[in-house]
Amino acid sequence: MATKDLITKVWIEEGCIVCDACETAAPDVFEVQDETCVIRPAALDASFTKPLSSDIEDAAEECPVDVIKFDTITEEVPDGEAEPAKPSEPAEEKPTAAEKAPPTPSTTASEKPAEKKKAKPEVATVTASMAGQPDPAIAGLLRAATARGGNAGILKKEESMPGGAEAWQKKDPNELPPDARQTKVLEAAKKAKQDPDSSRRALVSSAALAVGWGAFGLGAGVAGGPAFARFMMPNVLEEPDPRVRVGKLAQYIEMEPGAVNEAYKPQGIWMIREEGRVVALNIICTHLGCIPNWLPNDRKFKCPCHGSGYKPDGINFEGPTPRPLERFRLYMSDGIVVVDKSKKYQYELGQWDMLGSFLEV
Ligand code: FES
Repeated sequence: MATKDLITKVWIEEGCIVCDACETAAPDVFEVQDETCVIRPAALDASFTKPLSSDIEDAAEECPVDVIKFDTITEEVPDGEAEPAKPSEPAEEKPTAAEKAPPTPSTTASEKPAEKKKAKPEVATVTASMAGQPDPAIAGLLRAATARGGNAGILKKEESMPGGAEAWQKKDPNELPPDARQTKVLEAAKKAKQDPDSSRRALVSSAALAVGWGAFGLGAGVAGGPAFARFMMPNVLEEPDPRVRVGKLAQYIEMEPGAVNEAYKPQGIWMIREEGRVVALNIICTHLGCIPNWLPNDRKFKCPCHGSGYKPDGINFEGPTPRPLERFRLYMSDGIVVVDKSKKYQYELGQWDMLGSFLEV
């Protein structure tokens, strides 16, 4: 008989930015409301959450501000129902026999993420992007944009806009009501990148919560104490590598001028073939930070939040955005095209002809 960690209790701490990611991962458990996310009543019962443990863990991992917490209990399950070990997880992360020894006490909410964080290197160099994995901040924005219903979101918003869409689309961008949810997601994602501890410090600054955590720490006792302490300790500084390897130059030479390659959208990049050049567009809308969709039939990028439109080269031509999309630096390394997202080029500053803003093909 195998064992498995099952979730007996789930809750959301202060600091939710209403990004929809948790509801997308576990819709039976989380409900996103206007100002925050709540646990659905049925999910207050352990018998309901146990079978949904994997979904809840996914939601917690995908939460950009790390406010989803849960308690688990280790139970015996039939061999086929045990989670297979993830190939990418180092062997030392697996719980030891000693850690599994207490048969019934619940694992504390903070213990699980702390165990994972314990194994992370305490250095700022991470090569996730170079390995082709999605940028976590971009992934959060993409999920939020998808949950909003893409272009359907524009229509919904039009109905609630006094004077209709035409009136507000002609307005100065500074006069427009901001899209609060998307702005919050973007700001929090940026903040989390720069300062992974920000959400914890915000949490500690709340006196009421501090009292609550104190009680929690006492209640966790000796077994939960070290995990609680690790959770409250400063987190590791982890910066995603801004460089993304986007394949050989030959594939871009073969593309038709004006063609768009969306393969690296999860990393925040559209690769665009232009006449005699290849360029890398930043997928973030220059209005308020949503992620536009590429509409191949209309041959344009269309932002689902307020309707900004961009041509394939990134030039804006409709909607409230005041400027074109940005471009990233490109260079060759060992025959591979590399996009460096730490260096951006802006059309309105005359930077699109600068060396590095394109590769000649
Ligand atoms: Fe407003 Fe894109 S964020 S149009």
